[in-house]
Amino acid sequence: MSRETGNTHVINTSQNEPMASVLEKYLSRRTVLRGGLSAAFAMMASTSLTGCFDGGGSSGGGGSSTPATDTPAQPLSLGFESIAGSKTDGCVVAQGYTAQVLAPWGTPLNTLANPWQSDGSNSSEDQANSVGMHHDGMHFFPINGSSEDGLLAINFEYIDQSALHPDGPTRDAEGRRPAEEVRKEINAHGAGVIRITKVNGRWQVVDNDPLNRRFTTASLMDLSGPLRGTAHVRTKFSKNGTQTRGTNNNCGNGYTPWGTYLTCEENWPNVFLNTSTPLPEDQRRIGIATSRTSYGWESAAGDSTEVNDEFTRFNLASTAASAEEDYRNEASTYGYIVEINPFDASSRAVKRTALGRFRHEGCWPILPVEGQPVTFYMGDDAQNEYLYKFVSAALWTAADATPSDPLATGAKYMDEGTLYVARFDADGTGRWLPLTVDSSTTDGRTLGSIYGDLATIILNTRGAADALGATPMDRPEWTAVNPLNGDVYLTLTNNSSRTEANAANPRTRNLNGHIIRWHDAEDRVSFTWDIFVFGSDAAADPTTTNFSGLTDLNQFASPDGLSFDSRGILWIETDNGGNAVASATNDQVLAVIPTTLLDASGNQATIRAENQTALRRFFVGPNGCEVTGLAFTPDHKTMFVNIQHPGNWPYSTDATEVTPAGTSVRPRASTVAIQRVDGGDIGVA
Ligand code: FEO
Ligand code: CA
Ligand code: CA
Repeated sequence: MSRETGNTHVINTSQNEPMASVLEKYLSRRTVLRGGLSAAFAMMASTSLTGCFDGGGSSGGGGSSTPATDTPAQPLSLGFESIAGSKTDGCVVAQGYTAQVLAPWGTPLNTLANPWQSDGSNSSEDQANSVGMHHDGMHFFPINGSSEDGLLAINFEYIDQSALHPDGPTRDAEGRRPAEEVRKEINAHGAGVIRITKVNGRWQVVDNDPLNRRFTTASLMDLSGPLRGTAHVRTKFSKNGTQTRGTNNNCGNGYTPWGTYLTCEENWPNVFLNTSTPLPEDQRRIGIATSRTSYGWESAAGDSTEVNDEFTRFNLASTAASAEEDYRNEASTYGYIVEINPFDASSRAVKRTALGRFRHEGCWPILPVEGQPVTFYMGDDAQNEYLYKFVSAALWTAADATPSDPLATGAKYMDEGTLYVARFDADGTGRWLPLTVDSSTTDGRTLGSIYGDLATIILNTRGAADALGATPMDRPEWTAVNPLNGDVYLTLTNNSSRTEANAANPRTRNLNGHIIRWHDAEDRVSFTWDIFVFGSDAAADPTTTNFSGLTDLNQFASPDGLSFDSRGILWIETDNGGNAVASATNDQVLAVIPTTLLDASGNQATIRAENQTALRRFFVGPNGCEVTGLAFTPDHKTMFVNIQHPGNWPYSTDATEVTPAGTSVRPRASTVAIQRVDGGDIGVA
């Protein structure tokens, strides 16, 4: 997200690992050392589980594991030329490709919704039954293994109030928001499951499909894991602390090896108001709003039409004798990874609290290995926050790839396990620090002595990570796991507030961001790392900024969305603004095949001037947008991306058609389906 409710405020005042003059150390050591897992992953890349890794893992009704249908070309190489930057109200895609608009904001999903109106007049009920606003992370779930029929699960991260309402947001003379506007805004957030099919080469939404559904910031959800039932999450709505309403500001995504979707709650602290002082420590550390919220939903409290405290709950004030009679704990039910079974429209979403409470970006699994734990990687997107991973207590068994009850399988692998936070050391190694009651803090205590039990540690995830000495990062966004060797990549989008460099974040006032990668050792608690590529404008000094030697054809900044397809192509999306790269091009998608980049010793190389042509610009979005969300059909013939918060787009169903000069359209975030004109595989020759 780069507009409206962006998250650049520094809340982390801990002093973990400040290190000066680390850049020289970094530049002298650029190769990730890999352990024995590489061989295991190389072996697995040729198994059917590869398809599970990238969108082929589920089919209708619980599904079966579906292998990728094609065999990677040898050697794998990009089959398109890098395109120039663009600054128009249209999408640009590499030569030989088409891009179509699919499922823009307001597209009806069932008969309860009226068609989208270009004057903003649709009702809150329409919005609850239509595609939400500001598409972000997404995943394609094939129906019966098909690459032409499936479910697109999509996050709707936030809203543009000016576009949502006929004349923008309003308030009455006392500053209260109208209930109908607030409900429409609540219903525009969350996530959705949308049945899509390809007919005569073009994708379309299946209107009124029984699997179409929306999750909003009002939908009933279950709490699961360590927080479930604890005093931390008891509210007037759920006195026993087992349920809550809604998910909010869902940014990056993930999926599971058992065929469910993961949606991640990012900037949710901005919708809750707490004017009391001092704030509870967890709320201070996470950044709960103290004077005004992003949307003012709480101001509609007391409206004559309010049902079941639907607006009151956004105000965290203690108004009653106990937590079971007010909403002081409502914010404690947010900040989690939320699991959705896309194949059962009657199922409830589940908040998996064991995976930590913070401003979650994505949640990406490693390839599951029989008899080994399942691991998920997660960024906390704020300046100087941390990288986390969750390792399941249960060991993976392949039978769980086709469960009869996917959410029960989710409970098996995601409700019990260990949450870790990353410490990147200057010598190119690192440690995963466990957030458990007996973990030692840097000042000689234990987390248990500070917080008591695991539930309270989870509630205070950021504070616990501070105490362990985690490495403050330049806004951790998406993670991606290379299916060919198990390397993990993380976008660090930018950090204009960085004044103290550390080895993993070596540029102060980092306006361009970078992508770091690591490889976990077999002990799962140690790793080696390097920096794969530095964002930069092409004209920047190569000794201080443009370390990767980027040119006009691949300069980028603020990397955000990130994903490998199952062949091993890494796709990078940007959410940029306000720097030299933004002056040259709108946000974009680039591609690179890391395993083809080798140094003189045959080790995986980072991107530098001598090999930078391997990084190619594939797609550029319209003015004002962020390009985000990455999904692929199992046959690699369609790639889906999302255009979020465009300024004056789309003009037609052809995503590349530029809105004519002098024409204003009500902008609509949308999915864009990219295919090759000749019907071939995306990205390769
Ligand atoms: Fe919603 Fe961190 O981008
Ligand atoms: Ca971003
Ligand atoms: Ca993002």
